[in-house]
Amino acid sequence: MGTRRIVKIGDDTLRKVCRKQEKFDFRLSVLLKDMAETMYKAEGVGLAAPQVGILRRVVVIDVTPDHTGLREMVNPEIVESEGVQTGREGCLSVPERQGVVTRPRKVRVRYQNRRGEPEELTAEGFEARAVCHELDHLNGVLYVDVMDRELTEEEIHGKIPEDDNE
Ligand code: CO
Repeated sequence: MGTRRIVKIGDDTLRKVCRKQEKFDFRLSVLLKDMAETMYKAEGVGLAAPQVGILRRVVVIDVTPDHTGLREMVNPEIVESEGVQTGREGCLSVPERQGVVTRPRKVRVRYQNRRGEPEELTAEGFEARAVCHELDHLNGVLYVDVMDRELTEEEIHGKIPEDDNE
């Protein structure tokens, strides 16, 4: 199928609580592949299934600049979090905007892989931020709901004080 259309803020789909993924079948593998392609093409670091109109608990994340760190997470849950970080965040469903969001500095997340096998990841820094952001999508929450403040047009293209404590 290839890339899929990204649902934008204002669409009800982004506000729904997603259902658990029960089947680990070919359909899921196609969804995961399409989501990764869609994320890379849009130059994002994460994408949640509701952003492509699928109300299931499925996310992809890759915070590496060379696309070598793809994480596919099915039914992910944060089981432990530690510390805080405050920094900038954007979203492919909220184009041309950014905000400052406070998130845990480190999270431990349990999930299933595309075969349904249990996995665990400890993510820190920017990756922890991406995990929290994508998991929020599965509960109908956008970063604009939890941000400390919205960045101005000027700040989006420049440096902000909060960048220092990343
Ligand atoms: Co997002």
